[in-house]
Amino acid sequence: MKEGIYLNLNKNYRFYIDGMWEESKSKEVIKIMSPYKDELVGTVQAISKDEADKAIQSAKIAQKEWEKLSIRDRGNYLYHWIEELEKSKEDIATTIMQEVGKGFQDAVKEVERTIDLIRFTIEEAIHLYGESMLGENFPGGNRSKIAISHRVPLGVVLAISPFNYPVNLSAAKIAPALISGNAVVFKPATQGAISGIKMIEALDRAGLPKGVLNVVTGHGSVIGNYLIEHQGIDMISFTGGSGTGKRIAKLANMIPLVMELGGKDPAIVVKDANLDLAAKQIVSGAFSYSGQRCTAIKRVFVDEMIADELIEKLSEELKNVTIGSPEENKMIVPLIDQKSADFVQSLIDDALEKNATLITGNQREGNLIYPTLLDHVTPNMRLAWEEPFGPVLPIIRVKTVDEAIEMSNQSEYGLQASIFSQDIDQAFIIAEKIQAGSVQINGRTERGPDHFPFIGTKGSGMGTQGVRRSIESMTREKVTVININ
Ligand code: G3H
Repeated sequence: MKEGIYLNLNKNYRFYIDGMWEESKSKEVIKIMSPYKDELVGTVQAISKDEADKAIQSAKIAQKEWEKLSIRDRGNYLYHWIEELEKSKEDIATTIMQEVGKGFQDAVKEVERTIDLIRFTIEEAIHLYGESMLGENFPGGNRSKIAISHRVPLGVVLAISPFNYPVNLSAAKIAPALISGNAVVFKPATQGAISGIKMIEALDRAGLPKGVLNVVTGHGSVIGNYLIEHQGIDMISFTGGSGTGKRIAKLANMIPLVMELGGKDPAIVVKDANLDLAAKQIVSGAFSYSGQRCTAIKRVFVDEMIADELIEKLSEELKNVTIGSPEENKMIVPLIDQKSADFVQSLIDDALEKNATLITGNQREGNLIYPTLLDHVTPNMRLAWEEPFGPVLPIIRVKTVDEAIEMSNQSEYGLQASIFSQDIDQAFIIAEKIQAGSVQINGRTERGPDHFPFIGTKGSGMGTQGVRRSIESMTREKVTVININ
């Protein structure tokens, strides 16, 4: 990290409405504390329902003009956004580090990944075409009917993003929405809101027309349901916890929803796996950013014949895992808050009380939890089923591959899974049987590259993301039929 980059600590950040940065009339602000230092990062506005309503109305009006621009004109605004993000990359990365405790280099990577994602989104949208169909293909039809189908925006997209990728997962919603002619009401996670605001400051400097994107910050208890239920919202793209996702699905007004929620991604290690590869991928998959990724590997099913050998290799790999401050780019950093750390600790305690074997870890300093590996985890333990969102990995020994598949599928979640096997036929057969949006063969579970389809099934979400799929989810087909008489 560069010296002297702490420029903006303690600043009061405003919300963004109709092209203006405003303080809330509520006069209330929310303090954003650092997850790793006893330090105030800044404050954000706790806006009222009335202000949330105005933000939606502003977006509604602006969208009508925005969709009339050509896709290339809209793309040019987003290209300018990229230029501005390039210029403020270090500042935004520093904010991500300060606000959500992500290692500085990883925060820089997050901004770079975001820039690539926005660029890819513009290019993909420019190359998406409609189609035409002749009536004659259907029985009884004829060539005098021609349907022309192209995609049109949905209107106002409500983008709600999580703390763990406050920039990338926000832009993954905002860029496809904007390029396809939607306006956006952006509600960042409260812890992560300053990073989101800085990203939108760059979009403001790029000259985005007023109202096309508005940023709302505040207490979920005040504006959460109000935004979700608002008649002016035409689509919701949400990433966050499964509980909130289910509530959104109940409250939303028969509008399209795309949601990426929690996960309990398994790694299945079969007898013939390359164990060196598996150990490396599992440790990186389970412990990067302290396991605070929906796609983290959150349990390992291993054939009991090779379990000892795998655990030995995992333990060796874990020796390379660094622990400490995000400012020193450590892999294991303090969790986002005390409550999260308490929850992770409760899962470890429960497993140990029920006779799991501690291989390493179970040390804690505040909300810094050391990487913890537990063997002999069994189905009666909470850790076999619950998502820790922290650096703890349970090993579940199985006698057969079928047992691993069965336990994988018993989960309420279905985001991703990894299979480690050198027999590609066997890996494919297992992949077919696993209930998950994506299955990785011989690799860790992860979302990227960002143009791959990304899908949560069961309690892990609904709809598909990934650049093209996100554009499709924020548009609908419009069909015009020509009747030649
Ligand atoms: O936390 C949820 C993210 O979508 C995970 O993304 O696999 O790139 O870390 P990632």
